Amino acid sequence: MRVLHTSLECYPFAKVGGLGDVVGSLPKYMTDLGCTTDVVIPYFDNKKIDQHESELIYNGSVSLGKYIFDFEIRKLFSSSFGFEVYLVYQKDLLFRPNVYGYEDDTERFIVFQLAVLDWLVNLETKPDIIHCHDHHTGLIPFLVSHVDAFQSLQDIPTVLTIHNAQYQGQFSYDKLDYIPQFDLHNIGLLDWDNCINPLATGIKCAWRVTTVSPNYMQELQHQANGLEGLLSHEKAKCIGILNGIDHDTWNPETDPLIIKNYNTNTIVSGRKANKKWLCKHYNFDIEKPLFAFIGRLVYEKGADLLPDIVAEALQHLDVSILILGSGNTEVELRLQNLKESFPNSYNTYIGYDEKLSHIIYAGADFLLMPSRVEPCGLNQMYALRYGSIPIVRRTGGLKDTVIDIGEDGFGICHNRANIQDVYNSIKRGVEFYNVQKKYRKTQKEIVKIDHSWNNSAKQYIELYKSLKQLQ
Ligand code: ADP
Ligand code: GLC
Repeated sequence: MRVLHTSLECYPFAKVGGLGDVVGSLPKYMTDLGCTTDVVIPYFDNKKIDQHESELIYNGSVSLGKYIFDFEIRKLFSSSFGFEVYLVYQKDLLFRPNVYGYEDDTERFIVFQLAVLDWLVNLETKPDIIHCHDHHTGLIPFLVSHVDAFQSLQDIPTVLTIHNAQYQGQFSYDKLDYIPQFDLHNIGLLDWDNCINPLATGIKCAWRVTTVSPNYMQELQHQANGLEGLLSHEKAKCIGILNGIDHDTWNPETDPLIIKNYNTNTIVSGRKANKKWLCKHYNFDIEKPLFAFIGRLVYEKGADLLPDIVAEALQHLDVSILILGSGNTEVELRLQNLKESFPNSYNTYIGYDEKLSHIIYAGADFLLMPSRVEPCGLNQMYALRYGSIPIVRRTGGLKDTVIDIGEDGFGICHNRANIQDVYNSIKRGVEFYNVQKKYRKTQKEIVKIDHSWNNSAKQYIELYKSLKQLQ
């Protein structure tokens, strides 16, 4: 069986968040299990892609209304990633430094999807399954089933994974002519709330829909940013499969990005060296428990709560807090300004820094995730793998992966995304940290939890097999 993942992100070539991690690791595990898996993403203008040689394998063109866009499909030479990577090179729309955030993102995502399908139509050996990720590729299930030009692909089963239903990619009917010719009787499939909604379209047209944790799938029936009715209607074809993590990239014993490597036997000294580096770099006292946050500074992550949480915690508790992230400019500014008030116990790096994130997982004592919405969350799994105790709100995948220390578990959980709940959890963290024997025992246990893709990759393969039987 051959599966093609279509995505905007794939680590290490393009990563903004967890989508990049998932698409950069799941294919490797699936290929290891005998299910050949390829990935296609845009060719972005960045060093991570440019440093690899690629080979031109297809030249094509697609039109958006009256505009024609030539593109190339290039295949990366290196096979060291454990799967084949194909890139859509389109110089005007896709060859840009950033993955998202442009005014013409709608046009960019549609050109990407049309280019992939144009290539597949002309490919001799077609994939057995097309697996789409998020709204950026959510039109593909519709395009293959209903657009005349892609008729030769209509028997290929499509799977859509929803990584985050908050983002749906809606655009207005002025752009209907971007969709190549189809029978207008089917126009309702594109529609949600009088807009063309790629995520809703994907949910309606994909053969199966998955989300990235079982609990998030349940939550979506009641809370899905306007799509809850659709998701409960389509319930029968939906399944929640918990994300995994890449145990090779995220391995404290071999991770080249951290200050000192360690395993279960050397965890105390190894983590201490990483914490020491952080404390020296950010001017903290190594004796105090270090709480950290890593992530996009957006409302869904509860990032707007962080400045007040920092102020409240540092006024009352003897702790250090480090925040790594970028996003909402007002939150960024408030976080920067707080540095003046707490020069020896708080710091922030506003930006994206992969190396620093690894050192934080390896050196911080606790990782904060006060998320309002967290479809799965990978940070808590990285924290566990590196021995940092996760402090999470019970939501989405966080609820599926973190059990509170009060329930014989290994993390600290609260119910509400507000300052008081997070403050109480930090306070519980301090109390836990002060009983060093128990704290160390828990650290040693959490690094052994297996959140690798092994289990979940098998579930995806079962799902693909069930679709091949339907064909
Ligand atoms: P999401 O995809 O919603 O952003 P996840 O928890 O699934 O959240 O994944 C976030 C990923 O992005 C993790 O690999 C995390 O370490 C990484 N990350 C987020 N923000 C930053 C940052 N500022 N610098 C480095 N890595 C980051
Ligand atoms: C999304 C979600 C996050 C999830 C990630 C990977 O960005 O916000 O919770 O872990 O996708 O599936």
